[in-house]
Amino acid sequence: MLELDTHALIGKGLHRECYVHPDDPALCVKVVVSGSLDENRREARYYAGLARRGICWDMLPRFHGLEQTTLGEGAVFDLIRDYDGPVSHTLAHYLASRELTERHAAGLGRALDELESYLLENRIITMTLKPKNILFQQHNAATGSLVIVDNIGNSDFIPLANHSRWLARRKIRRKWRRFERDLGRAYRHNPAALALLALDQGAG
Ligand SMILES: Nc1ncnc2c1ncn2[C@@H]1O[C@H](COP(=O)(O)OP(=O)(O)O)[C@@H](O)[C@H]1O
Ligand SMILES: [Mg+2]
Repeated sequence: MLELDTHALIGKGLHRECYVHPDDPALCVKVVVSGSLDENRREARYYAGLARRGICWDMLPRFHGLEQTTLGEGAVFDLIRDYDGPVSHTLAHYLASRELTERHAAGLGRALDELESYLLENRIITMTLKPKNILFQQHNAATGSLVIVDNIGNSDFIPLANHSRWLARRKIRRKWRRFERDLGRAYRHNPAALALLALDQGAG
C-alpha cells in the first residue's frame, strides 16, 4: 500500500490529484478525488492498447499500472520533469504570461508542430485537448517537448476510430483544429500566443 502525503502533491485537476510516488521521484501516482474510478480504468485500458501497438512514448508518460494507496486506487505514470529537475509546467502556465511565451516562443512553436505529427504518426486519440493537460518539458533553456498527461483515449460510445487508420487520422486532425481554435480564444490577450498559432497554421 502506497502512503501518499499531501507534501508530495504536484497538481490537481477536476477529478484527480497527482502525487510524487513515495518510492520513486521519477514516477507519479494519480488518485481519483471526485467522481468514479472509471476514468483511471478507461485510461488504463487505452494505455494497454498503445503498449500493445508498440508506440513511441516521447510525448506521453508511460503507464505503470494501478496500485492501492492510502487515498484509494492510484494510477502510476512517469513524472514529467524539466532537464534541471523541477516538475514540468503546463502549456497553460506558459501561455498565461506574454513574457514567458515570448521567452520560449521558438521551443513552444516547434513543440506544437511536433506534438501534432506525433499524434498522427502514432495514431493517438485524445478527448478535448486542453493546455492544462499538456506539459512543456524543457530539454534545455531553449528547446522542449509537449507531453499530454490527461484526456487520452476515445470516449465515443462506439469507438470506430480505434479500428480504422483513416478515421483515426481524421479524428486527430479535427481535435487539433479545435485545440488551436480554443487556444486562440483563450489567449487572445497574449499576442505572443497568437503568433505561435499563426505560424503553425501558416505551416499547414
Ligand atoms: N505525468 C505527470 N507529470 C507531471 N505532472 C503531472 C503529470 N500528470 C499530471 N500532472 C499534473 O497534475 C495535474 C492534474 O492531473 P490530471 O491527470 O490532469 O488530473 P485530472 O484528471 O483531475 O484533470 C495536471 O494538470 C498536471 O499539472
Ligand atoms: Mg486534467
